[in-house]
Amino acid sequence: MKNSLTSSKIDGLSGFMEVPGDKSVSHRALILGGMATGRTHVTGLLMGEDVLSTLNAMRALGVPISVDDQNIVTIDGVGTGGFKQPDKPLDLGNAGTGVRLLMGAVAGQPVSAEFTGDASLSVRPMHRITDPLIKMGAQISYLPEKAEKGYLPVTVTGAQPVIAINYSTAVASAQIKSAIMLAALNARGQTVITEPHISRDHTESMLRHFGIEVEQTFLPDGKHQVTLAGGKPLIAKDIVVPRDPSSAAFAIIAALITPDSDIRLPAISLNPQRTGLLTTLLEMGADITINNERIEGGEKVGDLSVRSSQLSAIEVPAERAASMIDEYPILAIAAATARGTTHMTGIAELRVKETDRIAKTAQGLAACGVEIAETHDSLSVTGSAEIAGGAMINSSHDHRIAMSFLVLGMVSKTVITVTDIETIATSFPGFAKLMNDAGAKMNTKSEN
Ligand code: S3P
Repeated sequence: MKNSLTSSKIDGLSGFMEVPGDKSVSHRALILGGMATGRTHVTGLLMGEDVLSTLNAMRALGVPISVDDQNIVTIDGVGTGGFKQPDKPLDLGNAGTGVRLLMGAVAGQPVSAEFTGDASLSVRPMHRITDPLIKMGAQISYLPEKAEKGYLPVTVTGAQPVIAINYSTAVASAQIKSAIMLAALNARGQTVITEPHISRDHTESMLRHFGIEVEQTFLPDGKHQVTLAGGKPLIAKDIVVPRDPSSAAFAIIAALITPDSDIRLPAISLNPQRTGLLTTLLEMGADITINNERIEGGEKVGDLSVRSSQLSAIEVPAERAASMIDEYPILAIAAATARGTTHMTGIAELRVKETDRIAKTAQGLAACGVEIAETHDSLSVTGSAEIAGGAMINSSHDHRIAMSFLVLGMVSKTVITVTDIETIATSFPGFAKLMNDAGAKMNTKSEN
């Protein structure tokens, strides 16, 4: 039996909403903590399924990890070369970040691991990760029928020795950059990675937190370059995970588009590579204030206050895409209520996320009576004062699609139903309760 959620029109959201820990930082805390020398305590780890998949994979690679009743995680790091040969395939479920970062970590160690995932992860491209890892000396094997597309399952056998490379990525992707950096920790010499724009730099920050020198340079043409030398140990150090801005996005937009809303969101990550959505919403006329900006656990955080606002359409610049890549589906929901047509460009990467997010968002909005236009790398949404709604949206194993349409239900004339909602637990366990406690009207329905 699977569950659906219905979401009905509401009067507004109010109160204090504590969203869970950041998914990107949580994956990295487990992997880098496991590769450190010594004991790391992690506070605020996201207890979502994606992160738990990474936690289980790290245990299978021989890293002792325990979680206490306060959800404080203790990792006894095995060092950069201390992984054990796992005795079964590592199933990363829906976790793209988990599988890609771990492929890099395994590629730098003398072990071999088979990686598998769920139906969505099994049709996401992995050549972007395995190509540079092959250059570093890792052996990669796909099933013959999956090799051309580069789909899971894939077996990664660590390079011996690990070759330092100078690599330019075709897209600004923190997953590619991080996979290479994790393998490079055991390389002889300096690895240099150049990306077309800066992507989220949590791996760079956390490696520095663990005592590794990582150089970040902005080239005159706008490219971003990371340089690190292999062969140095990571020194274990406790980590505080900030709250996830990509999860906060659903509460922020729900509050902006519903009448008489007034919410507060404490300790949200304000990492500059994650604030593209806030910049965009402020340009659209959103009433959002950021208070008490501070550094917690090496990351900038702040408390947000958000009130209902009439938004106006804007052109979202293509260069901003990397800093809000996961937020386009929910931004499209905000755009559906804004005055005018919002154009989002330079977003082709959305087509290779948990689903083809341009297509899914466009189809769902059209089914709810919203005017949209899509091209290979853009989406335009024309706002209106009244959204018909009434559609049944299948999440297709995509948590952000599921949550986006549940937010749209809050302003729709007729209830929106989202099916296959289990996927929400990958990044935002407790989503419906947190929203309902603040005033949303989401109800569970069982499907057969
Ligand atoms: C992530 C990077 C992004 C993002 C994903 C998390 C990360 O993917 O979409 O949800 O933690 O490194 P890409 O790096 O492929 O753009």
